[in-house]
Amino acid sequence: MKIAVIGTGYVGLVSGVCFAEFGFNVVCVDNNVAKIANLQKGLVPIYEPGLDVLMAKNVQVGRLTFSTDVKSVKDADIVFIAVGTPSQSDGSADLSYVYQACGELAPYIDDAVLVIKSTVPVGTTRAVKEFLRNKSCRADVAFNPEFLKEGAAVDDFMRPDRIILGVESEKAKTTLSRAYRPLYAFNIPILFTSLETAELSKYASNAFLAMKVTFINEIANLCESCGADVNEVANAMGLDKRIGDQFLQAGPGYGGSCFPKDTRALKDFSEKFGVCLPLVSETIKSNDGRRAKMVKKILAACGDNIKGKNIAILGVTFKANTDDMRDSPSLDIVDALIKGGACATIYDPSFSDQAKQIFRDIKFSEKAYDCCDGADATIILTDWPEFKALNLRELRRRVKNPLLIDLRNIYPLSEAAAAGFNYYSVGRPFQKAESA
Ligand code: UDX
Repeated sequence: MKIAVIGTGYVGLVSGVCFAEFGFNVVCVDNNVAKIANLQKGLVPIYEPGLDVLMAKNVQVGRLTFSTDVKSVKDADIVFIAVGTPSQSDGSADLSYVYQACGELAPYIDDAVLVIKSTVPVGTTRAVKEFLRNKSCRADVAFNPEFLKEGAAVDDFMRPDRIILGVESEKAKTTLSRAYRPLYAFNIPILFTSLETAELSKYASNAFLAMKVTFINEIANLCESCGADVNEVANAMGLDKRIGDQFLQAGPGYGGSCFPKDTRALKDFSEKFGVCLPLVSETIKSNDGRRAKMVKKILAACGDNIKGKNIAILGVTFKANTDDMRDSPSLDIVDALIKGGACATIYDPSFSDQAKQIFRDIKFSEKAYDCCDGADATIILTDWPEFKALNLRELRRRVKNPLLIDLRNIYPLSEAAAAGFNYYSVGRPFQKAESA
């Protein structure tokens, strides 16, 4: 079977490489000439653990190719659409890239199954089918959402919790079943649903996860006032199988290219269907307000005076194990600190080019310890594994003032204080430095 994937971003490239790893012949198509040229040279444009090795292997055995020519989909059995559906200013999803791709593909996919993998509002897949029929294209159309977490996308593709296939024909059902057959050995549930059910399942899943994170962040606010420990509350909640222990880590609020976009799009299109989703609206509002709340916490910890202060910032990507800065909490938090007159130094383990471009006026260190040299305050914004392994006593020796503000609750309270830090975190009591 031959598979084509349109779009070589976080979803398209991972999907293309993994389908090739399943043993299929795959062509990844993108209209970005430079990106395709780099891919053909073996350069992976995204930070995704394990992707480079898999990509090189499948290119080497001839199962995976890259092209800018949309005609390269001609003999494909399945054509996946994995282009961006970014938020527009009113929160709605921008579908122009989806329709542009489908318009270009129409003349070549009559005998294929066109599968939308991009996250699209309910009704889009059916509208795309209509759009193709109006162009005399008889391709079957289906929807297959992705549930790939950045930084774990290869694993999430290879071992998904479920596969959702919105299909309307036996051909689409059998063809897509063949595409995911390599997963049968792992008894992964495959759900066949209507197009609309598949589309909404994606938004509902992401919005629920965003709401769960926002819930624990609000509980963290309460913990700070009533003296409870949010990590312990989260643990106590998560032991209830009906709640589950994931996505209960309090922090600076969610970011990335999905939760913010998908919650806003869900709010938008549900209202267009005449239905309000107050929980989703409140989730968006609560999360949007959290960054300012984090800035206030930092300022308070710094005695409400950061002018001229040296502030070390550990981690600026929206979460660990990615180089992605899209809608990262650091964008607002670092911006506020600079505006307040602080002198920031950043260390990020991904060495993200996006970060260096965005914070081009800020010094970047190559090592966490160097970043903290002479710091009046040290802030942890992202929960990179390497930060959990930092030698806090060494860090104490490097800073000028032993003030550690950990927005990811990486350390046990006692550990930071024992290392000599005045330790602030999220939803947990302040810990005064133990005297040396
Ligand atoms: C998410 C969904 O998990 C994935 O299924 C979907 O396909 C794409 O969107 P992603 O955005 O890559 O994946 O990251 P995720 O790991 O879900 O985290 C999203 C945000 O929530 C990040 O900002 C993260 O820092 C935050 N988060 C997550 C928390 O603050 N606490 C948590 O416990 C979990």
